[in-house]
Amino acid sequence: MRVGGRAELLLEPATPAELVAAVQAVREAGLTWRVLGGGANLIVGDGVLEGAVISTERLRRAWRFHPERDGDPFEPAPVAEHFPEREPGAPAWLGAWAGESMLGLVRRTKELGWSGLEGLAGVPGHVGGGVAMNAGGSWGELWDAVERVQVLAADGSVAVLRREDCAPSYRHGNLGEGIVLAALFRFTQAPKREVAERVREHLEHKRRVQPLTEPSAGCIFVNPDPEASGGRSAGRLIDEAGLKGLARGDAEISALHGNFVVNRGRARAADVLGLIDEVRARVAERFGVELVREVKVWTNGPDRPA
Ligand code: EPU
Repeated sequence: MRVGGRAELLLEPATPAELVAAVQAVREAGLTWRVLGGGANLIVGDGVLEGAVISTERLRRAWRFHPERDGDPFEPAPVAEHFPEREPGAPAWLGAWAGESMLGLVRRTKELGWSGLEGLAGVPGHVGGGVAMNAGGSWGELWDAVERVQVLAADGSVAVLRREDCAPSYRHGNLGEGIVLAALFRFTQAPKREVAERVREHLEHKRRVQPLTEPSAGCIFVNPDPEASGGRSAGRLIDEAGLKGLARGDAEISALHGNFVVNRGRARAADVLGLIDEVRARVAERFGVELVREVKVWTNGPDRPA
């Protein structure tokens, strides 16, 4: 959302093996370290962020895979050999490194006529972060299409987790401390027109109800348990509390959707975080619902509670 300072150290691995080596290096150096995906769901504090940030920006690669023709799905081979025959209803696979963008993934599968991720249309960020947090919305989640994930485990080993090994839930990939290196997605071939039409419908709806053209970190809070909130989403609670338009500096609660803070120009992270705390307090006071943050916050010092 275009706030926050810079990283003391920035590492930009260009392959999964380099990402593994980068993590090993920062661990050995005893640094505080974090892995940055697309930054779409993140607020970085003002000033210099101590320690190292390992970015997945250069890990942008996607490839087609076929289980009968190819060996290891995480050893991408030349794309041209891997185009399955068009056959509506048949499965099709795409592998992607952690830094591939989710927008790019949706665009590719739309062009190929592969169905499975139309519900992710318009969701920004990288595959790594998306898998880790099970990005998505009311029309689908990234894990709907995940078949396997290659992760760097906390003990430094590289493991492949199958869908059955993981228990993804609403906004959680449940990978523990595992860092996503790559993922294998499974799709169903469909008439291209149908896939494109669903992508278009979802995008159109999003454009109507979300401030997509302004810098933001997406939805700030996860939707509360419907029993506690009387079935009202976080955005609706904020809206009904009359908080749309509430501002601190250039940080403002979007007039379009209550669960978005937008940066009107020169907002500071402190403005955004202060506004989030105020919204949380006012919704709790008004409705007795404790909103829980969805966006990540990186600042020096102890982690802020979600
Ligand atoms: N609503 C209001 N006022 C508002 C905003 C919403 O009354 O200011 C009402 C809407 O009219 C609707 C209900 O609240 O009846 C739910 O709103 P919406 O359909 O916009 O969905 P949402 O639950 O707010 C979720 C995801 C979004 C995702 C959309 C669409 C969460 C926290 N949010 O939003 O995800 O894009 O569905 O799939 O789960 C994100 O995670 O960053 C994000 C934007």
